[in-house]
Amino acid sequence: MQQLGTLEDLPLHYREALSAQNLVPLWPSLRAVLPPGKPALRTRPTCWSYAALRPLLLQAGELTPIEKAERRVLVLANPGHGLEKMQASSSIYLGMQLLLPGEWAPAHKHTPNAVRMIVEGEGAYTTVDGEKCPMHRGDLILTPTGLWHEHGHDGSEPVIWLDVLDLPLVYYTEASYHVEGRAQEVRTTLAERSYARGGIVPSPVFTRGSARQYPMLRYPWAEARAALLDLAESQLQLDAVQVAYVNPETGADCQNILGFSALMLRPGETLNLPVRSPAMVFHLIEGSAEVAIDGNPFALAPADTCCAPGYTPVSLKNRSTSEPAFLFIADESPLHKKLGVYEVRP
Ligand SMILES: [Fe+2]
Repeated sequence: MQQLGTLEDLPLHYREALSAQNLVPLWPSLRAVLPPGKPALRTRPTCWSYAALRPLLLQAGELTPIEKAERRVLVLANPGHGLEKMQASSSIYLGMQLLLPGEWAPAHKHTPNAVRMIVEGEGAYTTVDGEKCPMHRGDLILTPTGLWHEHGHDGSEPVIWLDVLDLPLVYYTEASYHVEGRAQEVRTTLAERSYARGGIVPSPVFTRGSARQYPMLRYPWAEARAALLDLAESQLQLDAVQVAYVNPETGADCQNILGFSALMLRPGETLNLPVRSPAMVFHLIEGSAEVAIDGNPFALAPADTCCAPGYTPVSLKNRSTSEPAFLFIADESPLHKKLGVYEVRP
């Protein structure tokens, strides 16, 4: 490959003349922005231990009242991007959020899409677009772009959940902002029960489709877990026991930018994932697993979270030979597919 000229090859007076006109020569930077064969990846394989993070998050509850934090969150930041950038990958933000008994996180809406994966505690709820969504371990609750949401907690123990947002991407596109609002009136609860049976959807007076753009806002873990166990029991020849969180009316991804799925590793199973362009996040819900990213192994205990860059081989292993392991996965597939840059490499 041809070596290209550098900035230093150019006389200083010429470089200054370019700068004075807001001009930049391309060739000294061309290989950096268009590297050969594979992108330059800033996202570094990174693992966040829940055992290490949890006491620090609970300490935040003592140090900062909810009124001073609004959202009491420790961000899982990828050092490859610089911790101050607060991003796990180019497009994924991860935050571990704490809500104490009796606390209230006021209503707001924003342009980035968010989901939360409940990690521990009982008695909290999120109200999204007038729907009260109870929060239990492993439940996935959507707060898509532009929908009002707020959190409350009637229980007696701290509640912790993992927020997953496309904030870095929406911020990069200069489209990130929020609006504060008044407490919502609860209009519905457990609306996801309308879609609880496979292949059966509401069709009032022979109409199809929902008035709501996001008809399902809560995906109970009990349902996803049961679906995985049923899939594992089926005689279908499957490369992996995996289910996707989708919009039940359209079958499309449940949100526009990031994709979400749940995966079961059978006892002792090792799963080699194909090398794909999107970055991925793995969060262990139950069991004991190992994620090897480009050969670097990370042991995952329940509630541990790790991030793998795109274009990188990843293998997942169940460390138990007697119990299944269950993982929640967030990835950038919908974004890459919409942009036309999605790749699966042999
Ligand atoms: Fe929010």
